[in-house]
Amino acid sequence: MKLQTKIILAFLAVILMPLALMGISLLLMGRFMHLPSLSQLDPAYQEILSQVAVMIILVLVITAVLLTSWLYNSIVKPIATLQKATRAIKDGDLDFSLQVTGADEISELCQDFEAMRVRLRQTQEEKIQYDRENKVLISNISHDLKTPLTAVKGYCEGILDGVAASPERMTKYIHTIYNKACDMEKLLDELTLYSKIDTNRIPYNFTRISVKDYFADCAEELAMELESRGIELTYSDLLEEKAEIIGDAEQLKRVVNNIISNSIKYMDKKQGIMSLRLRDDGDFVRVEIEDNGKGIGAKDLPYIFDRFYRTDSSRNSATGGSGIGLSIVKKIIEDHGGRIWATSLEGTGTTIHFVLRKYQEKQEEEHEQNSDRGRRREHR
Ligand SMILES: Nc1ncnc2c1ncn2[C@@H]1O[C@H](COP(=O)(O)OP(=O)(O)OP(=O)(O)O)[C@@H](O)[C@H]1O
Ligand SMILES: [Mg+2]
Repeated sequence: MKLQTKIILAFLAVILMPLALMGISLLLMGRFMHLPSLSQLDPAYQEILSQVAVMIILVLVITAVLLTSWLYNSIVKPIATLQKATRAIKDGDLDFSLQVTGADEISELCQDFEAMRVRLRQTQEEKIQYDRENKVLISNISHDLKTPLTAVKGYCEGILDGVAASPERMTKYIHTIYNKACDMEKLLDELTLYSKIDTNRIPYNFTRISVKDYFADCAEELAMELESRGIELTYSDLLEEKAEIIGDAEQLKRVVNNIISNSIKYMDKKQGIMSLRLRDDGDFVRVEIEDNGKGIGAKDLPYIFDRFYRTDSSRNSATGGSGIGLSIVKKIIEDHGGRIWATSLEGTGTTIHFVLRKYQEKQEEEHEQNSDRGRRREHR
């Protein structure tokens, strides 16, 4: 039996039962107490009594109707809406919206149901986005692996056909095959790292790092490598005093290397110039890495940290890449509690900025002392 029918029947019973009881009691009272019957009463009394009876029935009916509709609106209606919503979800439709206001338990149940629908919708959207990105990734991997593989195949065929007759030629072929294999290995390493980072499987090894020393060493190493590529690197430490950060030295090196490798890859000037700067930014240390490369157009700039995003000119150029580098960089910086962004002028150059929070001994000590005190109080 439907809930609606049950409620109507309950209220009919509420009206009929007292009436029936009243009728039976009057009959019994008349019989055993020898009271006069209604027809024996004065007509004026008869009139008053029948009016009272009609009034009682009317009040009972109106109360029953009002209570039924109140209960119908606050129980049956929201349950019916909830049932419709559940069926929609069962059929895979998450695009509706369940609007039930009120503060009773059923309204709260509907509001929780709506929150669940919104969460499911988000998860579904994330999954669609993830699947789309995976498809792009697979097509990028196939494309990026196909180029070196074709070359390796070609050179091997050359060796088998005896084209590499002289020892010099043979060495050249083998070198090329080796280089192509290294390219493939690099791509696969990047993809493995990317998938680890994406699923939070990178175990960070956080330690206290002295910013000045760390970046000075970085700059020294990089300057040598960049010099061999004809790029000049200037390092400026504009920090007013010694600062420390809590970070993973290895992963931060990956950040710097990825940014620098982009500067090298997208360098289009004869004399490449790069600078690595450290500045104070309130409670943060700001690191800036600037190049005088080809720059990034304003329409591409907001997206360069997105996974697999490459500007049209990069995609069409011979420079390899999957558009993963900067998304890894962003993830690492954000996992350090920092922020990263880029400024660029097409044709002039690009600057990547990132900030990392300074380690403040006093605050940390106070924090530790407070938690010690708290622990002692708990102990007592
Ligand atoms: N210094 C830069 N100068 C010019 N363009 C840049 C620079 N850094 C990044 N870009 C642009 O941003 C895009 C995204 O960079 P990202 O490092 O994520 O990918 P990628 O270098 O193309 O590939 P990968 O790093 O995976 O090998 C690049 O394709 C390029 O178009
Ligand atoms: Mg890159």
